[in-house]
Amino acid sequence: MNDMQTVKVALFSPEQDRSYPIYIGNALLEQVDLLLPHLPQKRVAIVTNTTVAPLYLDRFRRALERYGICSVAIILPDGEDHKNWQTLNLIFDALLKQRCERKTTLIALGGGVVGDLTGFAAATYLRGVPFIQIPTTLLAQVDSSVGGKTGINHPLGKNLIGAFYQPRMVLTDSATLTTLSDRELRAGIAEVIKYGLIRDADFFMWLEQNITGLITRNADILNKAICRSCEIKAEIVAADERESGMRALLNLGHTFGHAIENAMGYGVWLHGEAVAAGTIMAADLSKQLKFISESDFKRIYSIFQKVGLPVIAPKLSPDDYLSLMKLDKKVEEGRMRFILLRRIGEAMMSHDIPASTLRETLLTCMANE
Ligand SMILES: NC(=O)c1ccc[n+]([C@@H]2O[C@H](COP(=O)([O-])OP(=O)(O)OC[C@H]3O[C@@H](n4cnc5c(N)ncnc54)[C@H](O)[C@@H]3O)[C@@H](O)[C@H]2O)c1
Ligand SMILES: [Zn+2]
Repeated sequence: MNDMQTVKVALFSPEQDRSYPIYIGNALLEQVDLLLPHLPQKRVAIVTNTTVAPLYLDRFRRALERYGICSVAIILPDGEDHKNWQTLNLIFDALLKQRCERKTTLIALGGGVVGDLTGFAAATYLRGVPFIQIPTTLLAQVDSSVGGKTGINHPLGKNLIGAFYQPRMVLTDSATLTTLSDRELRAGIAEVIKYGLIRDADFFMWLEQNITGLITRNADILNKAICRSCEIKAEIVAADERESGMRALLNLGHTFGHAIENAMGYGVWLHGEAVAAGTIMAADLSKQLKFISESDFKRIYSIFQKVGLPVIAPKLSPDDYLSLMKLDKKVEEGRMRFILLRRIGEAMMSHDIPASTLRETLLTCMANE
């Protein structure tokens, strides 16, 4: 094992200490010794999908076997379209048929879709069973596997049904990213850049200097980027697990981004792509309100552009944008909430954006045709 790093997610409540480690490194998939202390029984159920299974499932199961752990595999259809009740039920059917018990750990092996579905299954199967995440997309490694949000989509909206449920541990093997498509990798980088912007100016500068290494999947650079991203998300989640305040800062670019995803039809723009264009819009708003300078705006624009992420939002009428933005879960009592940049490395929340300023940003940041 080379240079493994551990990020601790510190979650204490009066009843319980639900803190857990995230192990990050290159080629950790077969390090079953890291899992062992977290398994109450020598039996696990691995939930994965039809894309990830042929790549990593056998290797992982053989490693488990070497440690005397037997596993049940549940292979789901791939895709956001399957993040629903029907697929959740496939998990329950398999668990029940195989007589999985209270102590059988559910392991999610895959991207955010598999992680969110498996986490929700773990939260509810037999009123809760142990859960471990092995995220295999960059987005899942830096975002969805950290913080305990689990759930499924409803035909009327994304992620509307779910639970907060923390895993026992997260095992992040950055070597799994070698098989990820360029487009998915870049979409994940959008969230990494977001962490620098909202909380760590030095990390943002480091990303500016190392962006080529990140795109070309240099192992050390990937590990460092994943590690710092997880640390930042873990700090924010530890301070505000249930999103009553600070956790909302993680949504920089997301109100605009969700409107873009929705307008284009889910799946046409990847989430990270919409977040990239959305972050440029949030940066433009911050510039108009005189928080960040023109040169800071250019740095933000240019890093997304170098990654090959969209920097221009699709053309819609400003009214269409506004009505889509009002659908966002983050709207409170009808008031739209925006995450802005006070400066690079510090985000803030604002409820009071003048309508004319918002309109100006929409018109400036969107494509002409
Ligand atoms: N729980 C949270 O806090 C949270 C946060 C952000 C996003 N999410 C959710 O995460 C989901 C998006 O996650 P995602 O971007 O990982 O998408 P995804 O899970 O759909 O994965 C993207 C694609 O990559 C494939 N894939 C996964 N690992 C691979 C690998 N190593 N090699 C090759 N292909 C691989 C998948 O099968 C899929 O086709 C959304 O449903 C979103 O709502 C949740
Ligand atoms: Zn996001």
